[in-house]
Amino acid sequence: MNKYEIALIPGDGIGKEVVPAAVKVLEAAAEIDGGFSWSFTEFPWSCEYYLKHGVMMPEDGLETLKNFQHIFLGAVGMPSLVPDHVSLWGLLIKIRRSFEQAVNIRPAKLLRGLESPLRDPKPFDLIVVRENSEGEYSEIGGSIHKGMDEVVIQNNVFTRKGTERAIRYGFELAKSRRKHVTSATKSNGIVYSMPFWDRVFNEVKTDYPDIETTSTHIDALAAYFVMKPHLFDVIVSSNLFGDILTDLGGAIMGSIGIAPAANINVEGKYPSMFEPVHGSAPDIAGKGIANPIGQIWTGKMLLDHLGHQEVGNLILEAIEDTLEAGIKTPDLKGNATTEEVTSAIIANMKKRV
Ligand code: NAD
Ligand code: IPM
Ligand code: MN
Repeated sequence: MNKYEIALIPGDGIGKEVVPAAVKVLEAAAEIDGGFSWSFTEFPWSCEYYLKHGVMMPEDGLETLKNFQHIFLGAVGMPSLVPDHVSLWGLLIKIRRSFEQAVNIRPAKLLRGLESPLRDPKPFDLIVVRENSEGEYSEIGGSIHKGMDEVVIQNNVFTRKGTERAIRYGFELAKSRRKHVTSATKSNGIVYSMPFWDRVFNEVKTDYPDIETTSTHIDALAAYFVMKPHLFDVIVSSNLFGDILTDLGGAIMGSIGIAPAANINVEGKYPSMFEPVHGSAPDIAGKGIANPIGQIWTGKMLLDHLGHQEVGNLILEAIEDTLEAGIKTPDLKGNATTEEVTSAIIANMKKRV
């Protein structure tokens, strides 16, 4: 029987509430499936850890994580304690880059039992493949002068390898879906990176004659996400465009608290990291009302990645049953707690087997 070694990093804020909730669901999934088990090891790396130790993770943190198959992470960041660029680059972004988690897979789908803020939406089911290791996120830049003469420069980095890897991943994914890929571009306003992005997209697409493609400027794409999300299947995007689009993807489902994500090491050389789209939500942390569905659905993505799609699908069905029964946290206009939603999902999984 397979035993999966998973590193747990709950992180900050509601990460500490939704990770234990999702672990309960993953344990229930293993029990129902009967063909595998989990071994979870928890690490306290977070902003509180930083206040005690002056670092977000120990010096050998990455070496430690390498021994695990995958990482299940909540959220990082508590700007009242540690500046965001310090906490995020010291943990989340460090892991993504060191373990070459080059693509971030972020689905958005109209779920049964959910009220989307869109008026009368047609059913939509899309996946954003976000380039996850370069692009607009870089530490290259600087500033000169002070006062009114101050000038700040932030460089973007687009490599052939990183760009092609993300775009190709999107095309491969589209083969098993509705065979359509949309490229998020902005080559009308950005003169180096985006024309390069378009060129790589156009080259890669010649390898996939059966896949239909569209190139859409990111500003129009954001509007289409609200007006016509059913038009999309797979969307490939740069790091920042994908970041913004996927909070929007969460919002059109009903809440960013339900949006799942997976940071994938495509070559399988390092652990991948499963971590929802949302952040640590300091405004609701500690109240027991965080929506656990984003983290739980992220757990389903971990199961899918490990080849356990059947029990993974059971989790999503049970999430929909729970929403349909009106058991929802306040972000979805309900009055249930994190704990109540989690218990209902587990009960609904058991009811279906
Ligand atoms: P956020 O996603 O934490 O919160 C935005 C809004 O959505 C808040 O009103 C919050 O209450 C709500 N929300 C988010 N998740 C929810 C959930 N599961 N249930 C109910 N409501 C939920 O974004 P932010 O406020 O920009 O960031 C807060 C902190 O989290 C910052 O430090 C930021 O850098 C960090 N962050 C971390 C990650 C990550 O680790 N993956 C992702 C995004 C933001
Ligand atoms: C996300 C987050 C991170 C990102 C932040 C916290 C650095 O917003 O995972 O979507 O922009 O990648
Ligand atoms: Mn984000």
